[in-house]
Amino acid sequence: MAELLPIDMPECGGDREGSGDEEDQPNRRHDPRHSSPLLPYCFVEGCDASVMIASPRNDAEKDAPDNLSLAGDGFDTVIKAKAAVEAQCPGVVSCADILTIAARDVVALSGGPNFTVELGRRDGLVSLASRVAGKLPGPDFNLDSLTTLFGKNNLTLFDMITLSGAHTVGFAHCSRFTNRLYRFGSSSSVDPTINPDYARELMQACPANVGPTIAVNMDPVTPITFDNVYYANLAAGLGLFTSDEVLYADGRSQPVVKGFAGDQSSFFAAFAKSMVKLGRVGVKTGRRGQIRRDCTAFN
Ligand code: HEM
Repeated sequence: MAELLPIDMPECGGDREGSGDEEDQPNRRHDPRHSSPLLPYCFVEGCDASVMIASPRNDAEKDAPDNLSLAGDGFDTVIKAKAAVEAQCPGVVSCADILTIAARDVVALSGGPNFTVELGRRDGLVSLASRVAGKLPGPDFNLDSLTTLFGKNNLTLFDMITLSGAHTVGFAHCSRFTNRLYRFGSSSSVDPTINPDYARELMQACPANVGPTIAVNMDPVTPITFDNVYYANLAAGLGLFTSDEVLYADGRSQPVVKGFAGDQSSFFAAFAKSMVKLGRVGVKTGRRGQIRRDCTAFN
């Protein structure tokens, strides 16, 4: 069976990655946060771009409640890149591979590590909202539930802590964390592990009656730079989700968090490796799946 290969793009008439990349560069340079099609897209059916399928009945994977806030701009970038690649090189590069390349580029363009990704994935033939529940990590997960879910995807505790560092860029909608500000528990409505100044800031940005479209930066200190500040934030009570803060609070993950907070190059090296592992989750090669012509529809 065909395997994924650590190459930069299947050969096609000489002009390699060029077309798609150049076209979208200015857009991404403006604000790398707008195209962060990174992780959880691999956890439902595998890294097979199932999440990009649009259904007229609104019952595709991206219509699932857990996915409703997916970055539309990130998908638009991938759709445009695919169209450009398809014009030069029809039927060769899958949407799943373009998503992988886009994730790599977002990281590098926002100051993170440069790394080679493996390519050769084919696109999936199943995309159903009904198959999402229970497959994605939630912002309220504790270390055990995070570890179990990543484990099901062949990713270790170390991979999980490392990949969570992706929250050094990007935004989150208020609804994903306001329980920590207003409804934490009976003795305190605010989660006591949140730094009090940060809690006040978040309450200003996300008042109790906030609208569903309001979002905040996930890294309040260096929001548009891919760096290791996310880990220092956790130690300072500046983790946005419970699933972030728990990485510092739990003794099993705290040493790795402290290590990354003190050494950006070890974080970068680990991140590159774990991203390659993430990119192997449930891939289809050989005769499985297809190379979609349009990322939003099965052929
Ligand atoms: C460890 C478990 C994880 C949980 C519980 C989690 C949860 C979340 C949540 C709730 C959001 C906010 C979505 C929104 O409100 O729009 C988010 C955003 C994001 N996550 Fe995660 N995530 C996890 C791991 C990861 C991993 C492993 C990566 C990448 C390798 C990642 C990359 C991102 C990015 C880039 C965004 C920002 C999206 C944007 O700006 O539009 N996350 N995550």
